[in-house]
Amino acid sequence: MSGPGGTVLLGIGGGIAAYKAAELARALVQRDLAVQVVMTAAAQEFVRPLTFASLTGRRVITDMFSSASPEATLSSAVEHIGVGQEAGVLVVAPATADLMAKFAHGLATDFLTTLYLAFTGRVVLAPAMNTNMWRHPATAANLETLRARGHRIVDPEDGFLACGMIGPGRLADPETIAEAVWQELHPRRDLEGETVLITAGPTQEPLDPVRFISNRSSGRMGYALAEAAAERGARVILVSGPVNLAEPAGVRVVRVRTASEMREAVLANLEPATIIIKAAAVADFHLASVPEQKIKKTAARLSLALDPTPDILAEVGRAKGGRLLIGFAAETENLRQEARRKLQTKNCDMVAGNLVGREGTGFDAEENEVILALRTGEVLELGRAPKRVVAGRIFDEALKLRLALHALDER
Ligand SMILES: Cc1cc2nc3c(=O)[nH]c(=O)nc-3n(C[C@H](O)[C@H](O)[C@H](O)COP(=O)(O)O)c2cc1C
Repeated sequence: MSGPGGTVLLGIGGGIAAYKAAELARALVQRDLAVQVVMTAAAQEFVRPLTFASLTGRRVITDMFSSASPEATLSSAVEHIGVGQEAGVLVVAPATADLMAKFAHGLATDFLTTLYLAFTGRVVLAPAMNTNMWRHPATAANLETLRARGHRIVDPEDGFLACGMIGPGRLADPETIAEAVWQELHPRRDLEGETVLITAGPTQEPLDPVRFISNRSSGRMGYALAEAAAERGARVILVSGPVNLAEPAGVRVVRVRTASEMREAVLANLEPATIIIKAAAVADFHLASVPEQKIKKTAARLSLALDPTPDILAEVGRAKGGRLLIGFAAETENLRQEARRKLQTKNCDMVAGNLVGREGTGFDAEENEVILALRTGEVLELGRAPKRVVAGRIFDEALKLRLALHALDER
């Protein structure tokens, strides 16, 4: 039953997001993968197996015992082992709190949980649930156990949940899950031997001991880049401003707060870097001399004289030597001109430009719509995609660009 790209088992748990597993099934089939769907009994309360049978072109496994004939019962009894042998990846989406608890503790109470125990390939889990369920210490402990087992967790996103709450728990974008599955099936190690230095997140510039100036950057783009680079074999140093994100596996994280701390951390780690990506939204201005005491509230207008912060990108641009330097331009208008201008004035090799201040992309969003201005003069439009997908494309283009620049230098 193998597809040209490989075979995947798609386990579907009984959560409200089960309908989104249909989009995931389609995204996997579009990647030329053979997809065998296994649904829990609860999942079938939310979506009918026929949906998945139609999308994947194969019978959906729905139970362990209720086959029509004794022969069929025998074949389905060993199916959980046979099915697993062909597949390289088992992806479970949505992974319910219940399934994660059963996986973590090795319970084998239905087909999917038994298959999980019998399966020896890579496991990808995309949890989705109510925010309180997600934050419950029991779920958190199960998740830790599963992460420690080496499974890839595609974390849920923040947003409006079906239960009416706002917070973490919404199933990740199906494209992001499909990309994670693809990478597990076809791990690429084309960044082996590289040291990638990445900056991410905002900076905070203090105004007094309790107040600061900052911006809406969430750090997600920089963290997605760090994750992508580590997976492709790079040694990664992530200089991170204050963010609310889990540290990517296998990445050295250096935490900073202000623009000047970020500058110091970047310069201290510049030497071993072969690729530098400045994805942080560094404050442009700061209060040079911060009062030691809290500024008191008065009826009078408060004026603050702000000075420019150090231009880290320009400084790295001057010191970069043979390293590949990639900057980010977050703009609200004239994106192409600004990306090109930054490319020239900061001595970058690539500038990833994105429009911010719009709904759904840019700062504090799951997706990004990026153009890449290259030193070769080309401008590429990557289109709108989850940040993890954009991160992968940036590395694809960076490696191609380095070859093109070497070829130009040799002429
Ligand atoms: C309307 C409804 C929505 C639910 N949504 C979720 C959910 O999003 N995530 C979750 O973990 N459990 C959810 N549950 C609870 C699961 O359906 C329940 O734990 C079930 O036993 C899971 O079975 P499974 O893990 O075998 O699929 C929901 C239950 C109901 C009734």
